[in-house]
Amino acid sequence: MSTFTIDTSTSRATPSPVPGKRTTAPSIRARKADGRTEQPIVMLTAYTMRLAQLLDPHCDMLLVGDSLGQVIYGLPTTIPVTLDMMCAHGAAVVRGSWHALVAIDMPFGSYEESPEQAFRSASRVMKETGAAAVKLEGGEAMAATIAFLVARGIPVIGHVGLTPQAVNALGGYRARGRDDAEASKILADARAVSEAGAFALVLEGVMEEIADEATRSISCPTIGIGASAQCDGQVLVTEDMLGLFERTPRFVKRFDDLAARIGEAAAAYAGEVRSRAFPTEEQIYRTPAKRSS
Ligand code: KIV
Repeated sequence: MSTFTIDTSTSRATPSPVPGKRTTAPSIRARKADGRTEQPIVMLTAYTMRLAQLLDPHCDMLLVGDSLGQVIYGLPTTIPVTLDMMCAHGAAVVRGSWHALVAIDMPFGSYEESPEQAFRSASRVMKETGAAAVKLEGGEAMAATIAFLVARGIPVIGHVGLTPQAVNALGGYRARGRDDAEASKILADARAVSEAGAFALVLEGVMEEIADEATRSISCPTIGIGASAQCDGQVLVTEDMLGLFERTPRFVKRFDDLAARIGEAAAAYAGEVRSRAFPTEEQIYRTPAKRSS
């Protein structure tokens, strides 16, 4: 049940929700008890205020993913994404939501150098956006950084398996864990991130049995994307699941076909503009004396 109402009366509205209590990192962590999560955690990406408004009532967490590099900015990978981009979109998503926890991706180059660098970047993200958590990629190599952030009041979501910021090192976006060595490494990464204090862990593009084993064996909730239905929650890139792209990874299920519907709406608009059927009486301003009836 929703604890707030959303003002959607105009596209320019400043929302005025009934104050509600936002989902917190400890409450997400506590959803997994005795190794089980009764109700799977629902997470989607959001990059804009309006999408955040629409998704918020349905999600436990909204992720301002660095996938915005490709989805919003048309970049070839997530590598060029900057802290400025993450802060601008993160603040918009926080403004458009009241219920879901908002987590912001730390972009490539903003955290890997040292725990201190990670703290500087993460604290800037939290100050400028109002978000309650950050997400960063990497397993054992990032454990000390995650512990450093968590000890200083920054809730962290980990991300292991197929880590898109490592595309150059991995040599592409193939699912991970096809051989025993890689499977053991992913499991070791998952354990390290959970033991370092992350309150949740994204498992991306891994063999199902690895996701199941990680979900059984680590204490924080796992959020799967191309992983397993047995994960403690799931995340997808919203534009993928809405069907805005013709090509999507195998693990995406399209819950709509918005690309086709937007194309149809744009074609109808173009037709009416060209035939002067739009605007009509209803959409124009006239002085009272000149109204037809
Ligand atoms: O950047 C992103 O959107 C992500 C999700 C796909 C997990 O990291």
